[in-house]
This record gives sequence, structure tokens and C-alpha cells, in this order.
Amino acid sequence: MTITGAARLAGVIGWPVAHSRSPRLHGFWLEHHGIDGAYLPLAVRPEALDRAVPALVDLGFRGANVTVPHKEAVLALCDRVDALAGRIGAVNTLVFEEGRIDGSNSDAYGFMENLRSAGGSWPAAAPAVVLGAGGAARAVVAALLDAGVPDLRLVNRTRERAETLAADLGGPVRVVDWSERAAALADAGLLVNTTTLGMEGKPALELDLARLPETALVNDIVYVPLDTPLLKAARARGNPVVDGLGMLLHQARPGFRAWFGVDPEVTDELRRFVLS
Ligand code: ATR
Repeated sequence: MTITGAARLAGVIGWPVAHSRSPRLHGFWLEHHGIDGAYLPLAVRPEALDRAVPALVDLGFRGANVTVPHKEAVLALCDRVDALAGRIGAVNTLVFEEGRIDGSNSDAYGFMENLRSAGGSWPAAAPAVVLGAGGAARAVVAALLDAGVPDLRLVNRTRERAETLAADLGGPVRVVDWSERAAALADAGLLVNTTTLGMEGKPALELDLARLPETALVNDIVYVPLDTPLLKAARARGNPVVDGLGMLLHQARPGFRAWFGVDPEVTDELRRFVLS
């Protein structure tokens, strides 16, 4: 679709940004809804972030998504940061209003919405196990705590990083050593992998699922490949599974709504388009 001089502008700020699927995803919705707007990849070096963000305000952008490696650094450039983004310690959505820069984080929403819309239910009173303590884990843990998970076992290779996450977010989070990850699955109702293990080009996730109840829901936030070895192994033993693509798709919705004025839908057609 061609745009006019009145087109609404947004984009994704990252370095590098060429791998980002967000332009394709937002482009699909813009086209689908016939919106006079554009969503651009914005390759911004770390040392240029503090100039680039105010420049986008001056250029009349409605806002932007923020991705690796800028999600933490951009916090300091915001005039306002919402409570959830403050707890997570990362901003992935910027909305520019009357010259003001508002930061929020839609990753927790995207994670939960993905489980919900995939029909993923798990025994609510059972413990949840989260693998990893990076940026993605912070959003996942915040989402699970807000959903009322009564007991969360946080397992990370670098224990100290998990301790920091647990201290920052509070709540019923118990840190478990990486070497104890198989045992941590006993009685669990939910298992989420937020590490990069199992991703294309990364090492495999070595995890014995024998102790995991068959009723436990298994989610991998890795979506390249879509059907990760963890999801395959879990499905083969009868566990319900939810893949990670929906988290990417759902986290994009709040930004699109704010910049372009339409609440877009996550459909199978969109899933196929983003994967192709
Ligand atoms: P993101 O922001 O996407 O979560 P990240 O901050 O780089 O990415 O975090 C990657 C996660 O994968 C971390 O939990 C990391 O563990 P460490 O905190 O110990 O680095 C985990 N991870 C990466 N490679 C790993 C490996 N070979 N074994 C175990 N965990 C690994």
C-alpha cells in the first residue's frame, strides 16, 4: 500500500535490526486494516540511542518498539515508565504523546496472552518452573506472579542472575541450581524455557522430563525452530504444549493499537505470514 503525507510512523529500534520480524508483522496489520502508516526497521547503534529516540519524537513518529540490545538502556530516556516495565527493568514499547516519551513493556502481556489464546491451561495450584534469568525471563516471571502462581522455581545456569531477578521481582520465587533442573520438574504444572538453548544455531537444551507430570503445560519462548526439541519431547510423552511464536505476535498488539488506533488480531494467517 502507498502512504500519504499524513501517514502515521512507527518502527523498531535495534542493533542489529535486520533479523527483526516486527516490520513484517506490523506491515501485515497495516495492509490488512488499510491504514495510512508505516513501520520501519531502525538500526540504531548503542552509542546513538540517546540521540535517536528524541530524534524520532522530532520527526513526528507516534512511537516505536525497542529490541536487543536497547530494552534496558532506553528506560533512562523515557519521561514516564509504567509500573510493570519498571519492575521488569526493560521497556519494549515507546509511545510519543505531546513530545513526551512513555515507556511500557508488553512482553509479559504477550507471554500470558499466548498461553491463554492457545488454550493453554495448567493446574493453577501447582508450581511453575522457569528456565533462564535473562530479559525474557524477567517478563515471564512478572507475568506469572501477576497471574497468581503460588510457587515459582527459577532455574538458571548463572545462579546469581536468578537471585537478582528473584530479589527484584519478589513474590514466591525460589532459585534452583541449574544442575538440579530435572528434579525441579517434580509436581510442576507449568514449564517455560526462556533460555536461548534449543534455538537454531545454539546448543541444545539438555533436560530430562521424567519427573514432569503429564498434565503440566510446556511452553518454549524460542520460536526458531517453531517446534523445538523441548516441545517435541514434551508432546511425545503426552504433555500439552504451546509454541513461542504467539508471544511475539501478541506483544506487538499494544504498540500497534497506540500508534495506529486499531486493536489488531492474531490469526493463523498472520502466523503463517510471519513464519514464511
Ligand atoms: P534474553 O534477553 O533473550 O532472555 P539473555 O539475557 O542473553 O537473553 O539470556 C539468555 C538466557 O539463556 C540466560 O538465562 C542464560 O543463562 P546465564 O544467565 O547463565 O547466561 C541462558 N543460557 C544461554 N546459554 C546457555 C547455556 N549454554 N546453558 C545454560 N543456559 C544458557
